Amino acid sequence: MQIYKVGGAVRDRLLGKPVTDIDWVVVGATTEEMLAKGFRPVGADFPVFLHPKSGEEYALARTERKSGRGYGGFTFHASPEVTLEEDLIRRDLTINAMAEDDQQNLTDPYHGQRDLEERILRHVSPAFAEDPLRVLRVARFAARYAELGFKVAPETLELMRQLSESGELEALTAERSWKEIFRALMEDQPQVFIQVLRDCGALKVLMPEVDALFGVPQPEAHHPEIDSGIHTLSVLEQSALHKQPLTVRWACLLHDLGKGLTPEEEWPRHIAHEHKGLKLIKAVNERFKAPKDCQELALLVGQYHTHGHRALELKASTLLELLQSFDVYRRPQRFEEFIVACEMDARGRKGLEQRSYPQADYLRGAANVARGVAVQPLLEKGFKGPELGEALKRERLKALKVYKESAAS
Ligand code: CTP
Repeated sequence: MQIYKVGGAVRDRLLGKPVTDIDWVVVGATTEEMLAKGFRPVGADFPVFLHPKSGEEYALARTERKSGRGYGGFTFHASPEVTLEEDLIRRDLTINAMAEDDQQNLTDPYHGQRDLEERILRHVSPAFAEDPLRVLRVARFAARYAELGFKVAPETLELMRQLSESGELEALTAERSWKEIFRALMEDQPQVFIQVLRDCGALKVLMPEVDALFGVPQPEAHHPEIDSGIHTLSVLEQSALHKQPLTVRWACLLHDLGKGLTPEEEWPRHIAHEHKGLKLIKAVNERFKAPKDCQELALLVGQYHTHGHRALELKASTLLELLQSFDVYRRPQRFEEFIVACEMDARGRKGLEQRSYPQADYLRGAANVARGVAVQPLLEKGFKGPELGEALKRERLKALKVYKESAAS
């Protein structure tokens, strides 16, 4: 049997990037031989094994044929006769379809190395279409390697468009899609992921609510970039530039969905878009089964981002309501994430990226003031149960009024 390093490990070594996990392909072996060597099978139907010591994945060279719709519809054909070239041709991109032996000799029948040099993400063969998840994968690689100048080949984009139009993307499970989405959002240029999905028509299928923002104008005075879709991409870009966590990036992507619902006669204004957008944010959250903290923050940022921008003008009572809605007493981190999401929103406007955002410190200060109100004196005065809650609120309001006045002077 011959063993080759394949896929991302070869690609990233040639790019001079750190290699995190290594996939191996085994040519000329049977399942029985692998088991005899101590490899552990991954699943009953998959010709994939884990190395007894390193735990790395070793797959028997295989060809795949699609037998039905969605990811379930695969049949594998692995046998010692399947060649390395046959295994590589069913892979997604030429840059992922190179193999290397233990002497670092490259097998590159589909010119992955040339495409690496020319910075092109190109599909290997029509077998690309066998797994619709690859549409998301290509968009993710485009985001990851954007800084190196990689672009999707026109013929690959065309194939991605056909796949998007074919209805195949709808068959993807939430779990598989989310894994790609969250990895893409954590790249340095996540906006490229969304842009590529849009360019091939996949965004319309996966997140029509985000796609609908493109072509919707906003008032130029506040939003020199005008277009709501462009604005959303910029907010997402800012969130990555400022190294924000996944929760914030997800909230940035979804914060303005309500703008896509505004009737054209009302353009460029978007009255109550914060509230109108909530059902759309909920729908996207649920479609991809986003983790709970992402879901929650996206809804809160959707609902309250305008409050964040107007923080300095808010009445003390509104400020208190905002802090209560976030439960800043028990969930300080979540409020901090809200604040930075608002800041990213403000910076995601053309020409205003560097403008300071005093609202952030003002909101942090307000949360500290509200948190600083002590319960003990109220307990000592004999307050209990709901009355204690009311008394606490009154004290917090008083403290916030003082805070607001001192900030104004
Ligand atoms: N692959 C594929 N189609 C998929 C998933 C994987 O063709 N839907 C192939 C590619 O050759 C890929 C390899 O399997 O390089 C390993 O896949 P994976 O570990 O998911 O990705 P990597 O390419 O290693 O990329 P990453 O660095 O993002 O993990």
